[in-house]
Amino acid sequence: MSEILISRTKINSRVKELAERISADFSASGAEKISIIWVANGAVMFAADLARNIKNLAVSMDCIKCSSYGEQTISSGRVQTSFSAQIPVRGEHVLFIDDIIDTGNTSKEMIGKIKKLRPKSLKTCFLLSKEARRSAKAIKPDYVGFEIPDLFVYGYGLDAKLIGRNLPDIRVM
Ligand code: IMP
Ligand code: MG
Repeated sequence: MSEILISRTKINSRVKELAERISADFSASGAEKISIIWVANGAVMFAADLARNIKNLAVSMDCIKCSSYGEQTISSGRVQTSFSAQIPVRGEHVLFIDDIIDTGNTSKEMIGKIKKLRPKSLKTCFLLSKEARRSAKAIKPDYVGFEIPDLFVYGYGLDAKLIGRNLPDIRVM
């Protein structure tokens, strides 16, 4: 297998840190409950681990699905979203979670759809960020686990040509 970029140990401790900060920030803004909207499939591990470490808030969770890659490693630029969150969004404090922000096209599209549902507040959280590749119109993420270089990575929910989501570490393809 290829080289490990971020080990499971580092992921675990960073996820706990993020969850603590998120819990504290939402609580400080007066929230008692939050609605988590996470992006399938890539954020499956991250969203599960992050949510498990959120304290002092009631949590609802639902996923939305999006794809622009298929079996490619370069974004097709066309983002297909299927959005049908079955949890409250209007007037709620919402946390959007995805595995990685790269160009930012995917999150921009999805955040636009969530905003139309009029949440009371909306914060965005990504495990990984490739800032060098960001498009000018991208959103500015509120929480990022790790800044990484322009490499294609997989593991811990992320796939490379549909394989590797189950791996506990993040590896370079
Ligand atoms: P963006 O729209 O360019 O920001 O791309 C975001 C989406 O592309 C993420 O939700 C991932 O699904 C996917 N993606 C971007 N970079 C990688 C990578 O290095 N490995 C796996 N998936 C990636
Ligand atoms: Mg994705």
